[in-house]
Amino acid sequence: MDKKRILILGASGFVGNAIYKELCSYFDTYGTYFTNRSFASNKQFLRYDLEEDDIFQVLQKVRPDVIISSLRGNFPAQIQAHQHLMEYLVKTDAKLYFISSANVFDAYSKFPSYENDKTLSLSVYGRLKIKIENMMMRLPKEKTAILRIPMVFGNSSPRIKEIKESIENKEPIEVFPNLIINVTNDDRLTQQIHYLINRNKTGIFHLGSSDLIQHEEFIKEVIGHLGNYHPIYKRVYTTNEDRYLAALPKDNVLPKNLRISCQEIIDHHLPV
Ligand SMILES: NC(=O)c1ccc[n+]([C@@H]2O[C@H](COP(=O)([O-])OP(=O)(O)OC[C@H]3O[C@@H](n4cnc5c(N)ncnc54)[C@H](OP(=O)(O)O)[C@@H]3O)[C@@H](O)[C@H]2O)c1
Repeated sequence: MDKKRILILGASGFVGNAIYKELCSYFDTYGTYFTNRSFASNKQFLRYDLEEDDIFQVLQKVRPDVIISSLRGNFPAQIQAHQHLMEYLVKTDAKLYFISSANVFDAYSKFPSYENDKTLSLSVYGRLKIKIENMMMRLPKEKTAILRIPMVFGNSSPRIKEIKESIENKEPIEVFPNLIINVTNDDRLTQQIHYLINRNKTGIFHLGSSDLIQHEEFIKEVIGHLGNYHPIYKRVYTTNEDRYLAALPKDNVLPKNLRISCQEIIDHHLPV
């Protein structure tokens, strides 16, 4: 069987590792780690530091058909690494799947955003994602996929771990009452990415729930599922009016069985 060779940059992280676990039984899958030494003895993993190492060396070792970029780290170094990735894409038949964010639209607050809307961000993080997206859009369309994702939840997600810790330590939990979002979880997100890779899909994808929810309501419902807790909530108002931070699918919708709703994500959370 001609197995695709996949390289996940940031495979020791929350999102990258969830993708690794989803793909490794089906593809010849490799990943990078930086500080998380628990991957050091795994033959499929290579150590890579954005700020010190040249991504070319990793690419030469793995010779991937598909690269999935799920990194954090120094912003200028991320830009340079992705510039080098573009050069590799031009020279080879490889494709790049980039984990972007709904924050590429964080300057728009009055409505949700769709795949082909113009990006605009007020945050340094959102602008970094836009810069890398724009580099990708200059390449032929069949070489790249931009995957814009909202906040990712799931039983093992850092966001849920943080909530559990706050409950345990009786610390207040921040909620944003007038922020309207969509959300996703690690399980559905990685199934969606698996599907896109299987089908050789490229373009722009909004991989979040199909519906919207208020941040405060979502967090309270998730906590309701974790157990009979009554934490203190710190209600943070950033504006007086409702504000949207949501990237919804319209042009590139996934098959029904791969979509997810906010309620399914809430129900997915198990008692502590
Ligand atoms: N989590 C979310 O809710 C969410 C939402 C939207 C978009 N995203 C995007 O998804 C991607 C992954 O996020 P995540 O939540 O999975 O983050 P994470 O758990 O912090 O993982 C980040 C990954 O990047 C690696 N890394 C950090 N600094 C590095 C450096 N200097 N050189 C090389 N590798 C480095 C980490 O390696 P070590 O751990 O081994 O040091 C880890 O593998 C990011 O691009 C993020 O913007 C995440």
